[in-house]
Amino acid sequence: MSVTIVLGSQWGDEAKGKVVDLLSEDAHIVARFNGGDNAGHTVVNPFGTFRLRLTPNGFSNPQTTCIIGPGVVVNPATLIDEFTMIKKSGIKLKHRLWISPRCHVVMPYHPLLESIYERARGTTQTGTTGRGMGPVYADKVSYNGIRLCDLADEEVFAEKLRVQLAIKNPILTAFGLQPLDLKVIFREKMSQYDFLKDMVREPFGFLQDALAGQATIVLEGAQGALLDNDWGTYPYCTASTTLAGGATAGLGIAPHWVRRVIGVAKAYTTRVGRGPMPTELTEATGEALRREGQEYGTVTGRPRRCGWFDAELVRFTSRLNGATEVALTKLDVLDQLPVIKICTGYCREGETGQFHYWEGDARWLGGCTPEYIEMDGWMQSTKGVRAFGDLPSQAQAYVRKIEELIETPITLVSVGPGRKENILL
Ligand code: GDP
Ligand code: IMO
Ligand code: MG
Repeated sequence: MSVTIVLGSQWGDEAKGKVVDLLSEDAHIVARFNGGDNAGHTVVNPFGTFRLRLTPNGFSNPQTTCIIGPGVVVNPATLIDEFTMIKKSGIKLKHRLWISPRCHVVMPYHPLLESIYERARGTTQTGTTGRGMGPVYADKVSYNGIRLCDLADEEVFAEKLRVQLAIKNPILTAFGLQPLDLKVIFREKMSQYDFLKDMVREPFGFLQDALAGQATIVLEGAQGALLDNDWGTYPYCTASTTLAGGATAGLGIAPHWVRRVIGVAKAYTTRVGRGPMPTELTEATGEALRREGQEYGTVTGRPRRCGWFDAELVRFTSRLNGATEVALTKLDVLDQLPVIKICTGYCREGETGQFHYWEGDARWLGGCTPEYIEMDGWMQSTKGVRAFGDLPSQAQAYVRKIEELIETPITLVSVGPGRKENILL
């Protein structure tokens, strides 16, 4: 038995999907535990290129069971689209996918409420993915949620929907939006549920049996530690728990089963949406990183903000998650830079000493200035390299310096999007 959690160590899009896809070759189970279709995980494997938001990245191994745990919020339309797309590519998933009936359902009013909140915030808006995450998780914790198990009973669902529309429609109309029609939503959700119902089954017993046996289990995180609702740059964060603790709660796996926690970190930093990002580069180097790294959001297509690697942040998130190791991805994106900087900590105007991420809130972080060390670039391609010793000496030094600063062993360096484009350390 081995449980490995794969988590984002920065602001999301660290290539968690790629790392999970790699591990799925030997996994009996791959499970998602948080977030919803705000996630966008791209994998490039022998079956093609897939951009998945909800389906766990074990889908391409016929031996792997895929589980969507109770911590995930499900937009049925997205899941049906992905299921259909995977089927078209020749992969059979139906009997391998388990969706917990405890999952909350993203309803049509959730993205609408989110658009009202975002508009009202004006210049302080978060820049969400627009998938209704804040409102659906808010409904969950305020006992207003509708779960997949509610859709199993038409009467229960109709009554819950009636109550929610009685609350939500006056808000929508007050902000100039059209009220939603109960019958239309009811019919749409029932038909979506009908499509999914064979796969809606509680995975707890299956998981417990697997834990007691010799199963290899990979838990696939969505978003990143700095988007966590408690420890991220609140309110510029997401609505769910993105940390190792969320993985165990979101699936019903006790913490003592977890053997490995892999933090995935890009060899630089990116962020989509608003909020502080101390190492952001707004000039030509940032643009070069965006171009080389193809840094555009998978879900919204927005350009990602790019900057230098922030070791202060990744050291913090490694501790927060108890990362046993870090996978450093997209090293190849730095191939042509003559000089590369790494942030080692922060200073603040008029104050003495070095400061840490956890000492303040998002506004405070916005007032921090990074302290950098400079390293020589290697100015040659690393894409074809498969052994650490074959990396240019400057690239080796860069990886080793990061490892030292984040105080966590780096066990994988990724140098391309493909499943095999890695250096294992
Ligand atoms: P996730 O949300 O953490 O799964 O990450 P995304 O899939 O949103 O973003 C990572 C992007 O980088 C994807 O388009 C990957 O195909 C791509 N990618 C992954 N690893 C590498 C790498 O080592 N080098 C390069 N150039 N691209 C990579
Ligand atoms: P993956 O799993 C990057 C960001 C949004 C926004 C904030 C809140 O692909 O790494 P939300 O829609 O969750 O309420 O948006 O969080 N965000 C992500 N950024 N990768 C993601 O997922 C993200 N999921 C949400 O851009 O700033
Ligand atoms: Mg992503």
